Amino acid sequence: MFHRSTYSTRREELRKNISSGIILLLGNEESPMNYADNGYHFRQDSSFSYYFGLNQAGLTGILDVDSGEDCIYGNDLTIEDIVWMGVQPTIKERAAEVGVNRTADVESLEKELAQANKDGRTIHFLPTYRATHDLKLFKWLKIHPEAIKESVSHELVLAVIAQRNYKKEEEIVEIEKGVDITVDMHIAAMKMARPGMKESEVAAVVESIALAHGGHVSFPVIATINGQTLHNHYHGNTIKKGDLFLLDAGAETPLYYAGDLSSTFPVDHRFTSVQKDIYEVSLQAHNHAISLLAPSIPFKEVHLETCRSIVDGMKSLGFMKGNTDLAVEAGAHALFFPCGLGHMMGLDIHDMEGLGEQYVGYDNEPKSTQFGLKSLRLGRKLEAGFVLTIEPGIYFIPELIDAWKAEGRFKDFLNYDAIEKYKDFGGCRNEEDFLITDDSYKLLGKPKPKTVAEVEALRQY
Ligand code: GLY
Ligand code: MN
Repeated sequence: MFHRSTYSTRREELRKNISSGIILLLGNEESPMNYADNGYHFRQDSSFSYYFGLNQAGLTGILDVDSGEDCIYGNDLTIEDIVWMGVQPTIKERAAEVGVNRTADVESLEKELAQANKDGRTIHFLPTYRATHDLKLFKWLKIHPEAIKESVSHELVLAVIAQRNYKKEEEIVEIEKGVDITVDMHIAAMKMARPGMKESEVAAVVESIALAHGGHVSFPVIATINGQTLHNHYHGNTIKKGDLFLLDAGAETPLYYAGDLSSTFPVDHRFTSVQKDIYEVSLQAHNHAISLLAPSIPFKEVHLETCRSIVDGMKSLGFMKGNTDLAVEAGAHALFFPCGLGHMMGLDIHDMEGLGEQYVGYDNEPKSTQFGLKSLRLGRKLEAGFVLTIEPGIYFIPELIDAWKAEGRFKDFLNYDAIEKYKDFGGCRNEEDFLITDDSYKLLGKPKPKTVAEVEALRQY
């Protein structure tokens, strides 16, 4: 945990940004896999963790904007619980560690909320993403689950984003720990993958490194020879010589700060010549995107510049043709790059996606609906303190190629005959994590191997 003053300061700042009423922050409960006592790994809610630091199930936090008092609610362990789970600090003891003096049990919370409701006080809460949150709001505030969306506090959403979007020094230190672990996960995969192994064997080693550092993975591991499927969580294929292996994986630290990296490597000792050519185009686009990072540039511009770099590269390889700017304007590049260049990162791998991408990533500016661009999670002007990923890729998605070819889509920009020959290429991507500084950017964590030479050096088995 950070020092208690970090949490007190964060709460104080939040209270200042809300006009009046009560801020209700719902912690997470245990999530059973198949019966109540057999749970998934516990993950605290990120906003609860940001303001209250405690990663224990069953807690709720309240910040009273009008009185300035904070309280953590939860039930202490019974003797039965202690028999099974051992002695744990009391909620009072834990709360003191994060600068909260007042604690109470869940029954008191229900009574206090009922009273606040009766008194007509505004009770602010964030968007929910678990049914247990909806049930609590139903029970405590009498808001039907179907009415929760429209009852969310817009004021609170904006205030939380306004804090969490700007990472403080101590958060950067923590994120860099997450990224360093993540780099080790990627290097291990690049060293160990052998023809004949299952993808799951690589995924298991990658995940074990995150666990060994006391945290967890920051999202389900993507470890695949089908890198063209963007969020591919299937690990059942046997990998073979000639395949390209795409790993997209990250660790989160015990404080929940994330790393998120992607790497692509040949299962063989070396890239084939076509793999190398396409990989180089994607790497060049990646490096070009990084070179543009600075405060004030809209990330959408960085994305579009990166698309232009991909089009130029694909033109040089004979896969595309025509005017680069027009091709990007039309969206022809999205055949190979149908997603976004990157996203905010912090306590969530896609930071605060649950609070609303249009606020986190777009500052409430309208988002494009064009295929490709509509998947860009971050478009707003960059500012010092933002932490984001850069992750352009090149994907040959056979079904998309067939569909576009059949309708002759963008045939002035796409050389379908050449593309057809490499329909089984798969996909490649590099991803790294960056902090926007006062005048430039900083790569977070230790550098990961990404040039052809660096990657191939790890494939000499
Ligand atoms: N690295 C997974 C994602 O960004 O969606
Ligand atoms: Mn990512």
